This record gives sequence, structure tokens and C-alpha cells, in this order.
Amino acid sequence: MKMAKIDLKLLKNRAEKAIKKAKDLKELNEIFKKYLGKRGELTQVLKSLEKLPKAKKIKIGKEANQLKDFLRIKFDQKAQEIKEKIEKEVEEKEWIDITAPGKKPVLGHLHPLTQIRRKTEEIFQAMGFTVVEGPEIETDWYNFDALNVPAEHPARDLWDTFYIKNGSAMRTSSSSSPSLPSEARLLRTHTTPVDVRYMEKNNPPLRIITIGRCFRHEATDASHEVNFYQLDGLMVGKDISVANFKATIQEFFHRFFEKSIEIRMRPSYFPFTEPSFEVDITCLVCGGKGCSACQRTGWMEMLGAGMMHPNVFKNSGLNPKFWQGWAFGMGFDRLAMMKYKINDIRLFYSGDLRFLHQF
Ligand code: DAH
Repeated sequence: MKMAKIDLKLLKNRAEKAIKKAKDLKELNEIFKKYLGKRGELTQVLKSLEKLPKAKKIKIGKEANQLKDFLRIKFDQKAQEIKEKIEKEVEEKEWIDITAPGKKPVLGHLHPLTQIRRKTEEIFQAMGFTVVEGPEIETDWYNFDALNVPAEHPARDLWDTFYIKNGSAMRTSSSSSPSLPSEARLLRTHTTPVDVRYMEKNNPPLRIITIGRCFRHEATDASHEVNFYQLDGLMVGKDISVANFKATIQEFFHRFFEKSIEIRMRPSYFPFTEPSFEVDITCLVCGGKGCSACQRTGWMEMLGAGMMHPNVFKNSGLNPKFWQGWAFGMGFDRLAMMKYKINDIRLFYSGDLRFLHQF
């Protein structure tokens, strides 16, 4: 029976060590089976007691039962330890700080051209102008003829565009346009046709601006795009004069650039205005002293304007004997470029987020 005693001691040591080392409940369960399971080592010892003489049976039986109780307690303790460890890990993993500030979702913002458009509309609306719109696909009539640019007029070369044939766009050089009927459709080259459309439907006095997309058949570079935006303005009444125009446009630039701006008018030519002029503003970079941005002149070319031609009034159903007024048109992208000091018009249409995020 000496053997059995040693066996029990060894068994205790082995079992204790194994329990201590167990990493999870599954492993612990295996160890339990190995020692205390139906065919476990200690169970076997207890079963073999029967064959021993009574005195030994009592002695070894006692020891084996004590060991059984001892190991059960060890198993329970270890199981508890593992469970607590798991709970702690889960807690740590799933812990959330409900007092932490929330994460802001990434919000987009308005395109710089839209921001500038809204600002421009606000300024003109405050001066009593109505904001109107017209179609981007125009007829030959509204884009050219009605604006005193008949089919053979050389000015058409300035406004080469894309014509629509059976619903799809096709480019036709303007020199071939004389053969096109005036209801032929094209992508408008300027926003001035909106003035005619508005005068047809509304009686003077009128004050409107229109900002919209225009198209030209042109090679692109830093200051030209095949599509771009234009701002057109129109004021018609019984005695609307160039003085009214000068005051209005100067006030607009003053409010738009938020600094005092001088303007200068030079004679020019547009088929739909008479007289016509080109308008310059004080150079925004040097304030009029002369710098490389303004070719040392102190002035920057901004827009075209003039007194509406009597033929345009006639084409719009108004009698030029009773009505007079001015119109102006300017590149809207250029206005935005000057406001933000951007040197390439193509950036507006590139969809480059590194550019757009700056506004
Ligand atoms: N439509 C002209 C262009 O595209 C600009 C312009 C000039 C518009 C004079 C006007 C105006 O309304 O009066 O170049």
C-alpha cells in the first residue's frame, strides 16, 4: 500500500500543477475529466479500494476522498478565476465612455461658385433686382438674332458653340450657321438671351440679373473653359441712363469685394448695345498703384456693358421710343477667381477635393 500512498501524492502534485496552468474552461474541463471524471485517475483509485484489506481501505479511502474534495475546491476556484478574467476582458473591450464628445460626421459644403453666386444675388436683390433664369439650350434666335447678331454677322465668330441635332450635341462652326433656321438649338454662349426672354413677358420698369452656365467651343487654358458661368444684368425704364449703370455697378463691386473700388469705362463694341463699353475696376492686388497682375496699369478688365440697342427692344416686343436701359455681362468665374485669388478657372470644375475643401 506504500505505492498507493506515493501515487496519491504524485497525483495531487500533477493535478494541482495542471489546474494552475489551465488557460480556459475547456482545458480545465479536460483536466477535470483526467482526474475526477468517470475514468479519471483518482476515480480509479477510489474504485480499487474495494480490493484492499479493511484497515488500508479506511486509511487510503480517507486520503483519496480528502484529495478528491481538495481537487474539487481547486477546480472551482480556478473556474471562477477564469470566468472573472473573461468578464474583465469583455468589459474592457466593450467599455464606452458615455461622457466623451461625439464624433462629428464629415459634412460637405457649397461649391465656391455657389457661395459667390448667392452673395452676388443677395447684393443685387438688396438693390431691387429680381434674380431670373433661362434655358441653357437656347435657340439660334434668342442667342443671336434677337440680340442683333444676324446670321452673317462677323460677331458670331466670337461666340462659336455646340449645335444640337436630333437631340444630341454636335459642333458646327459658326461660319456654317447662316444655313441654320433661327429655331435651331444650341448651347447658349452667354446669358444675355435671358434679357430678351424676360422683356417679352414683363413690362418695364425692369431690374433683373441672371447667373447661369454658358458654353463655347474653345480650347481650354487657365482662363478659358468650354463651360463657364456668366452674370448678366438689365435695367429698363423711361429714363435709365449710363449714370445709373455706373452707380449700380460701382456699388456692387464695393459690396462684393468689401472695399472701395473705382471703375473706369472705355468705349467698346457689342451688337446688342449702343453705345457699348468695357468696364475696368481698380486692381485688387495693388489697389491702383500698378503691379504685374494689372500689367502696371492699376486697372483690371471686368465686364462688357452698354445701353440696350433699339433693335433688341423691338425684338423683345418693347417700343424703343418709350423705353431705354442698360445691360451688362461678366464672366462669373473670373469674379470668383478675383475674390478668392485663384489663378486657374479649370480648378472650379476639376472636382479636386484638396481645392474645394479650402472654401
Ligand atoms: N454677352 C456678352 C459676352 O458674352 C457680354 C455682354 C456685353 C453682356 C454687354 C451684356 C452687355 O448684357 O450689355 O461677351
